[in-house]
Amino acid sequence: MLAIVATPEGRALTERRELPPPAPAANETLVGVRAFAVNRGELTLIRRRGDGWQPGQDVAGEVLQPAADGTGPQVGERVAGLAEWHGWAEQAVVPSHRLAVVPEGVDLALAAALPMAGTTAANLVREGGPLLGARVLITGASGGVGHIAVQLAALAGAEVTAVASRERGEALRGYGARHVVADAGETEGPFSLVLESVGGKTLDAALARVAPGGTVIIFGNSSREPATLDFVAFFGHEEATIRSYFSARHEAEAGRRLAMLLDLVDQGRLHVEIGFRAGWDDLNEGLAGLDERRFPGKAVLTID
Ligand SMILES: NC(=O)c1ccc[n+]([C@@H]2O[C@H](COP(=O)([O-])OP(=O)(O)OC[C@H]3O[C@@H](n4cnc5c(N)ncnc54)[C@H](OP(=O)(O)O)[C@@H]3O)[C@@H](O)[C@H]2O)c1
Repeated sequence: MLAIVATPEGRALTERRELPPPAPAANETLVGVRAFAVNRGELTLIRRRGDGWQPGQDVAGEVLQPAADGTGPQVGERVAGLAEWHGWAEQAVVPSHRLAVVPEGVDLALAAALPMAGTTAANLVREGGPLLGARVLITGASGGVGHIAVQLAALAGAEVTAVASRERGEALRGYGARHVVADAGETEGPFSLVLESVGGKTLDAALARVAPGGTVIIFGNSSREPATLDFVAFFGHEEATIRSYFSARHEAEAGRRLAMLLDLVDQGRLHVEIGFRAGWDDLNEGLAGLDERRFPGKAVLTID
């Protein structure tokens, strides 16, 4: 089969090679991949893990071979899932509990955009507890995780403030954000929940706007800049909690979360923004676009 491997030492970040198809473990479903999505974390890992590494977590396609242990969907069913890497390929294995069946009305390219970004957004919003009437700040709101988190928090009844550039902010109002600011420093708060993934000055500003007893969940650092932390900064924000979030700790619920998100998409209650969609020949262009922040939402590549 054909598969993508990292080639950061070469002319382009990745290349397509002929590789042996994967051998599924008993709890894994073999998927014929029709579409896959790219995550910002994978950009970093392609460079860090080096030549020969096989990226790819977000996949959608049809079941070629059900899991031998009898779990998961049957041959021919349309599925999306979160692979343990090696997913940017014609065939990928996915643990059955990380798969969900894609409703008939949902395009596989949309479904492929959801496994990592969507389940992360869903878990983050759920970690925030009851949000009816709560003020929630979401940074990096135009990104893959951010634009879905905005919608899920709004669906949960929160008053959402989204941080995004002016040109990308308007779409977020349409997704349910009550307020959109270009800089976290432009808003006053206080917010009972902050979902933060930009780092640096954005994290500093977010920490200065959390309500007393509120929670800041840090789940990324897209700017790669550090923030400062000082006890005196908590005056006025007493006993706020700062915690981190890692998707790997939530992988057991991935399939269930994904099924919930696909159902919302099918009902027209969740919009998945695909800022870059192309055949997988153009993967390196999509990776460069993500690196240079040329589009909002997700990048999805299709395999014909
Ligand atoms: N902890 C976990 O398990 C987990 C899971 C998924 C993702 N993440 C992390 O969460 C973050 C968001 O993921 P994503 O997939 O939503 O990424 P993404 O699609 O690339 O979105 C990044 C967002 O951050 C904004 N941003 C502001 N300053 C930036 C800068 N200096 N560099 C890059 N982006 C900047 C972007 O705004 P513009 O529209 O202006 O570019 C965009 O809204 C990433 O850091 C990712 O690694 C963590």
